[in-house]
Amino acid sequence: MKNELESLLQPYQQTHVLQFWDELDAVAQQSLADQIRAIDFEQLQTLAGATGAAAKWDELAAEAEVPPAITADDFANPESYRAACEVGRAALADGKVAMVLVAGGQGSRLGFEHPKGMFPIGPLSERTLYHMLIDQLLARGEQVGKAIPFYIMTSPPTHQETSEFLADNNYFGMDAEDVTIFCQGTMPAVDANGKLLLADKSTIFTSPDGHGGTLGALKRDGCLDDMKARGIEHVFYGQVDNPLIQACDPALLGYHIKSSSEMTSQVVRKHDPMLKVGNVVVVDGKTQIIEYSDLPDQYARQTLPDGSLKLWAGSIAVHIFERSFLDRTSDQADALPFHQAHKKVAYVDAQGKLVKPTENNATKFERFIFDLLPSAKNAIVCEVDPADGFCAVKNAPPAPSETPQHVKDAVVALHTRWLEQAGVTVADGVKVEINPRFALDVEQLKEKIPTGTTVTEDKYFEPETV
Ligand code: UD1
Repeated sequence: MKNELESLLQPYQQTHVLQFWDELDAVAQQSLADQIRAIDFEQLQTLAGATGAAAKWDELAAEAEVPPAITADDFANPESYRAACEVGRAALADGKVAMVLVAGGQGSRLGFEHPKGMFPIGPLSERTLYHMLIDQLLARGEQVGKAIPFYIMTSPPTHQETSEFLADNNYFGMDAEDVTIFCQGTMPAVDANGKLLLADKSTIFTSPDGHGGTLGALKRDGCLDDMKARGIEHVFYGQVDNPLIQACDPALLGYHIKSSSEMTSQVVRKHDPMLKVGNVVVVDGKTQIIEYSDLPDQYARQTLPDGSLKLWAGSIAVHIFERSFLDRTSDQADALPFHQAHKKVAYVDAQGKLVKPTENNATKFERFIFDLLPSAKNAIVCEVDPADGFCAVKNAPPAPSETPQHVKDAVVALHTRWLEQAGVTVADGVKVEINPRFALDVEQLKEKIPTGTTVTEDKYFEPETV
């Protein structure tokens, strides 16, 4: 077996991964052989040799304009909004909508050594990110009389714990038949010389292949077929880290359907040029996203005569895809390009010692799902006020933004505003949190709480309190 593997590795100068072969037992040898055979060495060689990305972004950014967007004003226009909601609700009631959540990330930036979805974030309820999202999907399903199938993408490090957590909690009330947990793929990393790294003597270092891995994994695990069999046409996509997400929002679905869009992206208006969100732009008539880390500062800071930012549309990583569009692109091997990320990766050296580098020593390769935008027909962009739909939890304190406290405050602020709009007074300093199964929006709140009520102490409005 060793000879066969050597001849596989030789043309790509990767035989060093066999350097501890003779020390390994049969099980470890078999495992290493399987890992080697799973690697696409042609692809890896091309990726490792690719250069010039910075120049490409500079060129794109120089020509970037902002796509015409359905703005917050359109959403505030009652006629346009009501018409969109009707179309979205009909699609939900007909069972044509599913939710896909990407949850491959760990909570390490939060100092939380578990899958991020298990992070408790409810300001009073202490519900986890998963629990809060599932409550929303259940409430939306109850509103239209049709359950929303839920597909959750994990990664090898988060798969088992996520599956056990959700099963142990009875999927927070969802029918197990409607929950599919599928795992994304991985990619090997390389060092500065394009060589694979060994995580230990029998393990080649790999990492999750980015949320662009959703496309291949949905196909590989039969989720796209399952969606088709269930009659799903529109796939609502979101990230696990944003508890303010308006999951399967009828208005957004409605605008998407009315525009015959194959991919719709929700954006916020950037006021800070350095906000860490992808920038939605149009270049040569094609809508696309330039990630914050790729957009040169000079272009991020460009302003219009009124002083506002030229590239104002920040992606919040909420998209709606047509299922047929995902089907079509999942058959195209190169539908999504790879991006490079330079990271610190611990590795075993030629002496068999584990080295923990203090500088970036490795290039990881990731695909981003938003790179499907240029391939989508009639792509549209819709603005949402971040106070209504975007506050992601990413960092541990003392980070200046996106900490758990920021997110909890944003939930309380939103629900306080809803109560006030429903004619309820919330006393100063009092915290409120509303479970979507109690009320999904201001209209439902009005039906539940008499106008003129005052809330005088912290209160979590649960379904049972109806
Ligand atoms: C991401 C987006 C950015 C967007 C911002 C909004 C990227 C590259 N950038 O930034 O454009 O404005 O969110 O909050 O995505 N994930 C996987 N598998 C992976 C990698 C990531 O499932 O292999 C999931 C994570 O669990 C998370 C999401 O993708 O839910 C985003 O990943 P993260 O690394 O946190 O991206 P950001 O830099 O925050």
